[in-house]
Amino acid sequence: MTEKRPVDLVIFGGKLVSVDAVQDGAIAIDQGRVVAVGELSQLPASRERIDATGLHILPGAIDVHVHFREPGFAHKETWTSATQAAAVGGVTTIFDMPNTNPPTASAAAVNQKLEIASRQAIVDFGVYGLIGETCLDQIEPMVAAGAIAFKLYMGSENPLVPCPPDGAILDAFEILARLGIRCTVHAENTPVLQWRGDRLIRSGRTDAAAHLEQHADVATIEAVSRTGIFAEWTGCKVHIAHESSRHSLPHIRFAKQRGVDMTVETCPHYLLLSTDDGARVGANFMRVKPPVREPGHAEPLWEALRDGTIDMISTDHAPHLVEEKNLPSIWDCAPGFPGVETSMRLMLTAVAQGRMSVCDYVRMACAAPAKAFGLWPHKGSLAVGSDADIVLVDLQRTSRISAATLHSIGNATPFDGFETIGLPMRTLVRGRTVALNGKPVSMPGWGRNVAPLRQ
Ligand code: NCD
Ligand code: ZN
Ligand code: ZN
Repeated sequence: MTEKRPVDLVIFGGKLVSVDAVQDGAIAIDQGRVVAVGELSQLPASRERIDATGLHILPGAIDVHVHFREPGFAHKETWTSATQAAAVGGVTTIFDMPNTNPPTASAAAVNQKLEIASRQAIVDFGVYGLIGETCLDQIEPMVAAGAIAFKLYMGSENPLVPCPPDGAILDAFEILARLGIRCTVHAENTPVLQWRGDRLIRSGRTDAAAHLEQHADVATIEAVSRTGIFAEWTGCKVHIAHESSRHSLPHIRFAKQRGVDMTVETCPHYLLLSTDDGARVGANFMRVKPPVREPGHAEPLWEALRDGTIDMISTDHAPHLVEEKNLPSIWDCAPGFPGVETSMRLMLTAVAQGRMSVCDYVRMACAAPAKAFGLWPHKGSLAVGSDADIVLVDLQRTSRISAATLHSIGNATPFDGFETIGLPMRTLVRGRTVALNGKPVSMPGWGRNVAPLRQ
């Protein structure tokens, strides 16, 4: 009889969490994959063991909406700082948005970003290609170069990533439908944003409320609805980014009922903040697109997450320096916040408060994004054969978020000082520990492009 070679790693003593169960069990990992799950006594011998007593074992979170800023804006964030933040936050796969400089709008730009990411990343990554009216002929070359999906700025005030005309959007959706690749949409109506923005600026408004007036939720309701209509007509799979308004929900439900392959994300800031937080955080500092709205939206968004109208949690991780956000005129304040390091602990706090179960969290943060973007079951699952992307979390651990200790360069978070219950203690990407007890275990270049896994 030949002795079996020991596997690389066994994690034991913890509770395994999947979308439908929490169970005592151990997990064996070899060459980056899960090779066995079950009782410790039944698992193969291993060269290394991790004792997870008292901890829950979750698949790593997949964040399909981040802005890691390189190339172009390394003073706000680098792939090193951002993926360290992700690792500490329990995020094992991210998809980076194309509003960098240069924008990710050609095969060459995809290659450039993949090269930067491959050198620095300690978690796995995907890269979005841009849908732009002048680069429709680049869609296929960008896929060939390794883009995971595409991003359409339907609502844009950024000249680097302008909104294409509707005709070009339809053409893009037809191309993507043929390729079977999903399009993530920043769903706001650009002419509405421009018209209202110009009017508010002309009238001399510089206060934070003017940003909310500019981004009135009719702009997003219309764009979500138009996205659904264009997706139905073309057969394109679409993904609605950062849903912020309860008034979009009937339009999302309508599209889904009609069989449109529409997935939807929302972010912690829309679930946990309202304009009432402006007094505490600073109303200008809170600027984000789409805006954090008046009280009354969060509860319906939670309900939509629970009933599946909203499929997943992302962060729209959009780091800026504090001095870029705290300016006297709202129009000068950089929009967005970092998110990858704080999202899991904020959502686990919601679990502790009984707003959802830990299984629901795994569905929203791991399984749903993997399924939507063709990475299931390589990612988002701890079944045998899946990548060993794992987070060990202490669901009881209380702590306080401190902006100063975040790993992002642009660490201006509205969640500074938030008390959280539940903390990622250790993060593994394909079997290697990339963060331990709040510290990144740096191994630049360990992260890989996930696009080749897409099916
Ligand atoms: C994003 C950014 O800073 O890149 N900002 C934001 O307010 N969300 C852009 C975006 O997601 O639209
Ligand atoms: Zn956006
Ligand atoms: Zn974004």
